[in-house]
Amino acid sequence: MRIRSSAPQDFEQILTIINDGAEAYRGVIPADRWHEPYMPAAELTHAIRDGIEFWVAEQDGRLLGVMGIQDKGDVALVRHAYVATTMQRGGVGTQLLRHVQGVSEKPILIGTWATAFWAIRFYERNGFTLVPARETPQVLRKYWSIPERQIETSVVLADQSWLRNAALLQ
Ligand SMILES: CC(C)(COP(=O)(O)OP(=O)(O)OC[C@H]1O[C@@H](n2cnc3c(N)ncnc32)[C@H](O)[C@@H]1OP(=O)(O)O)[C@@H](O)C(=O)NCCC(=O)NCCS
Repeated sequence: MRIRSSAPQDFEQILTIINDGAEAYRGVIPADRWHEPYMPAAELTHAIRDGIEFWVAEQDGRLLGVMGIQDKGDVALVRHAYVATTMQRGGVGTQLLRHVQGVSEKPILIGTWATAFWAIRFYERNGFTLVPARETPQVLRKYWSIPERQIETSVVLADQSWLRNAALLQ
């Protein structure tokens, strides 16, 4: 398996991986936030135009997982992390995460659904810590452009560097 930067011709496969991986959310995230497909093509196009740089895990010409990283000034956000359903829990996500962590020198934040316990566990296992609930809405409003309803139902995980800076600023 190798990790490489995505190319324009990966678009359809990236979309397929995201919508396949997002099946994990069915019945888990708030019903009013679930829609099908989970990510329409236009939203992925917008995400790329918005500066999300996608990295892909590939084996024998087939994509197994994708992960995006977005520069937001003083921090970088990990966005849209998905591994194909049949490949989950095989280490692909960990390798992608390590790779995107190496792409940016900035403190890293990751947002996910509060009920996506497996994703929270995955990031905690990889050294990230949940941002305290009282600070989460303001962090989400500062760095993400998401509806208020998603803010209410999301959590943010931060790396050690962000946590250190946040403590210094208090
Ligand atoms: C979250 C995700 C990207 C992790 O990638 P992955 O390749 O499956 O993860 P890895 O194999 O590298 O790491 C596995 C660890 O992550 C956690 N984990 C991943 N999937 C899990 C699941 N379904 N249930 C419980 N823990 C899970 C566990 O800690 C697991 O370790 P374990 O198998 O020893 O218990 C992937 O599972 C996925 O695409 N999930 C669905 C979509 C999603 O939640 N994306 C995150 C958006 S922020």
